[in-house]
Amino acid sequence: MTLLPQVPGFTVRPALLEDAASWARYACLPEVKEHTSSTAMTVDDVKAEIQRTLAGEPNTPIRFVLVSPASELVIATVGFHTISAVSGTAEIAYDVAPSHWGLGIATAACRAAARWGFEAKAWHRIQATTVLPNVRSQRVLERCGFKREGLVRNFRLVRGQPTDYWMYSVIPGEVQRGPHD
Ligand SMILES: CC(C)(COP(=O)(O)OP(=O)(O)OC[C@H]1O[C@@H](n2cnc3c(N)ncnc32)[C@H](O)[C@@H]1OP(=O)(O)O)[C@@H](O)C(=O)NCCC(=O)NCCS
Repeated sequence: MTLLPQVPGFTVRPALLEDAASWARYACLPEVKEHTSSTAMTVDDVKAEIQRTLAGEPNTPIRFVLVSPASELVIATVGFHTISAVSGTAEIAYDVAPSHWGLGIATAACRAAARWGFEAKAWHRIQATTVLPNVRSQRVLERCGFKREGLVRNFRLVRGQPTDYWMYSVIPGEVQRGPHD
């Protein structure tokens, strides 16, 4: 069993409350939130997000941080919310510090986390949703083997505005292998 997702070049582990400041350093930037429903403004908002992952219930969200061994800073996160232990399904989410965009980190993290979800959690479906303009994220998903299923209308509030999303999913056996798999 794969105990943690493996992303070459990073230490990957579950987020701790102590990671809040390091994650907030980029998670609260406008360009990171632009294409998401995130409302995080402060370190405390990010801490609350991490706190929700610590509840220990079957459907509790999961968040992994990718820490640079050199700087000990959180460079990216990947995790799951909207988990249904009964159905064996979850929704993946990820972000990367803008200073590290375009290096393949989201692709590697998404791929590793999806494989972990199927191997360690035995899920049957991992879904992903993106707002229509988030083409960068859509390309990440497609590189990882996710398939676009369709448009879900008014799916989430994005800063108060009901917003349409593309729905993607991947099922066991479909995750695209990466160069290190
Ligand atoms: C969307 C987001 C996660 C993408 O992160 P990223 O690490 O820059 O993504 P990647 O580097 O894996 O892919 C982006 C580009 O890098 C390129 N790339 C460079 N080296 C690569 C490698 N070794 N492997 C894969 N792609 C690589 C890809 O070709 C890709 O280019 P393309 O989109 O033109 O095809 C990031 O922009 C982000 O955090 N956005 C804000 C939060 C967000 O939108 N989250 C997702 C919500 S659905």
